[in-house]
Amino acid sequence: MRILGIETSCDETGVAVYDSEKNIILGEQLFSQASKHDQYGGVVPELASRDHITKLLPLIRLTLKEAGLGKEHIDGIAYTSGPGLRGPLLTGAALAKSLSLGWDIPSIGVHHMEAHLLINLLENPAPTFPFLTLLISGGHCLLIKATSLGNYKVLGQTRDDALGEAFDKVARLLGLGYPGGPEIERKARKGNAFSFDLPRPMVKEDHLDFSFSGLKTAVYYLVKKQEQITEKFSSDISASFQEAIAETLISKCTKALNMYDLKQLVIGGGVAANQYIRKRISDELPEVDIFFPEPKRCTDNGAMIAIAGYYRFNNKESEKEIQIRPKWNFSEL
Ligand code: KG4
Ligand code: ZN
Repeated sequence: MRILGIETSCDETGVAVYDSEKNIILGEQLFSQASKHDQYGGVVPELASRDHITKLLPLIRLTLKEAGLGKEHIDGIAYTSGPGLRGPLLTGAALAKSLSLGWDIPSIGVHHMEAHLLINLLENPAPTFPFLTLLISGGHCLLIKATSLGNYKVLGQTRDDALGEAFDKVARLLGLGYPGGPEIERKARKGNAFSFDLPRPMVKEDHLDFSFSGLKTAVYYLVKKQEQITEKFSSDISASFQEAIAETLISKCTKALNMYDLKQLVIGGGVAANQYIRKRISDELPEVDIFFPEPKRCTDNGAMIAIAGYYRFNNKESEKEIQIRPKWNFSEL
């Protein structure tokens, strides 16, 4: 099957075509609106929706051209149903449904976070069920036991900020741009990861939940004490923040792997693009098979939606009406 995937849950317009027989992406295009929202310190839903509307069709045309395909070669269309921003989700869903009616092929709405998980099946070698999944994005922080396709158990999640959100807020405290994750990672390269003794939230507790707001507040008080945010301070605090995050993730993943006797760890979501965190987790868990998508497929993209759509179609699922679910909980899957 060849599936066209459309991602519009937030501020990235992503389009891709997935070929299930070859397990490859034939063409993919991405437009990031980040610079448009930078001045507001976060995503403005109305602006994001308008931009998706103008970008979607040109990106679909480019994707098909890159893949050397015509519309007659596409067997199904997948779009992000949720979770995400209502307006942006609607733009992608409405276009996907219109194309499906015009091209007379089925469409299906998929769960954005399941897509962040399933994109790992594109890797070679790919993980095999069952495995532990850590999803770390701008809106979520989830630890999941994936037993088979669609058979997931949420083992732990954040009780306050999502991990990417914590990166974005700390970046704002330091006067860095949006999205904050890549900015912190860049600053941290010149810093000392052990210069500030930041908390490792909830690592001593038995449960598998996370909390990042206290860590962010600890950074806030250190910033407040500074007369001026120097380059050195900014680099050192960024590096220390990243190290605190890495240790927290390693601790929770180790606990979950042991508790559920799992040998594979599958990681996804925007924060998984962070090279420091990738290396720290890989170094600390040498006996575990760890899977990360390539960095450009950690952040939002159309390929993950196309793949999630394929697995849903393959499961004989289809839909009649447009479905958007801005607050779709993973445990409802
Ligand atoms: O998965 P994603 O693209 O969108 C959501 O589903 O939320 O994740 C976006 C988040 C943002 O908060 C961004 O700051 C963070 O991922 N991020 C990073 C890096 N690249 C993106 N965080 C840390 N290091 C990075 N290199
Ligand atoms: Zn995402």
